Amino acid sequence: EKAGYPHFMLKEIFEQPRSMADCMRGRIDPDKGTIQLGGIADVMDDLANANRVIIAACGTSWHSGLVGEYLFEYLAKTPVEVEYASEFRYSDPLIGEGDVMLVISQSGETADTLAALREAKERGALVLGICNVVGSTISRETDAGVFTHAGPEIGVASTKAFTAQVVVLTMMALALGIKKGHIDNKKAKKYIKELNAIPDKVDQILKECDDDTKEMAKMFTYAPNFLYLGRSYNFPVALEGALKLKEISYIHAEGYPAAEMKHGPIALIDEMMPVVVIAATTHTNDKMISNIEEVKARKGRIISIMNKENSDVKELSEYSISIPSTFDVFSPLLTVIPLQLLSYYIAVNRGCNVDQPRNLAKSVTVE
Ligand code: F6R
Repeated sequence: EKAGYPHFMLKEIFEQPRSMADCMRGRIDPDKGTIQLGGIADVMDDLANANRVIIAACGTSWHSGLVGEYLFEYLAKTPVEVEYASEFRYSDPLIGEGDVMLVISQSGETADTLAALREAKERGALVLGICNVVGSTISRETDAGVFTHAGPEIGVASTKAFTAQVVVLTMMALALGIKKGHIDNKKAKKYIKELNAIPDKVDQILKECDDDTKEMAKMFTYAPNFLYLGRSYNFPVALEGALKLKEISYIHAEGYPAAEMKHGPIALIDEMMPVVVIAATTHTNDKMISNIEEVKARKGRIISIMNKENSDVKELSEYSISIPSTFDVFSPLLTVIPLQLLSYYIAVNRGCNVDQPRNLAKSVTVE
């Protein structure tokens, strides 16, 4: 059932070109420049007229929510707040009619996310969901929603569910941007054509970067700490890269927006500290280069995820993984892939139980 792979996690990482394409199938039309999301068709007007959207989720799904915030605000000009579902629940939240609550959950059973949904519903908000498991409690209790269609995810560390969630958020943001008149048909075609090309680019990354990440993993297997830095759309990917590493390899790792480094974490950097920089967002490239120089000046070891043509970043890095370029807004769908592989290979080298890490469960049904 692992289709020849040693672990479900690796199988699921390699399934992503297909799971992402499945998620888009029948929903996007690159020639016409249109997007049809049947599950939320009836509430598109409400969504377009919403005062704001509050996204609530936990863990990796919360990270996809953070990517969603950038997508909705950039593509649809809809204000978004992202909340940890657990915190939302206990904060006497200011939410009501005219607001939309969007919950994101792979399993559709996470207790805190379910509680946040119920709280928002009780206060009169429209509640929407992005779930992977059809028939799950969250998918049944939301007013409307979009399934990710990533297929069953068995590995405890979420991989293909994350990318499918980001694909759904991208399609929702584009559909909303089109509806609200912020994206004209010409632009819509451009975006949708590029989105449609993403699964092939992921395939290319898996083919070209697998050996490199394996080699890199050997060098850093016994590092006690890792820092992940990203900016803009790739800041949530830094958080996700760090979470993947800590949950399966038990190495302490933290993700930061790159500019925050000098407000504290820079004190940690020395010749023992690997720093993974996600330098594939073109509009923040110069700033990222300054951050890399700051790390190098303190002898930190730079591992970069960068666009193929970015020789500046390559020259400054001890190790670099080149990925195909795409629009900055779609970049998380590509940059997360090598980070999943890196954490996988490090965990395997350390002899960890990759598919079932200690202390973790696939769905967290207690608060
Ligand atoms: C990380 C991971 C967890 C889940 C979180 C939410 O790899 O698996 O952080 O993302 O428990 O789970 P769902 O999405 O099922 O609500």
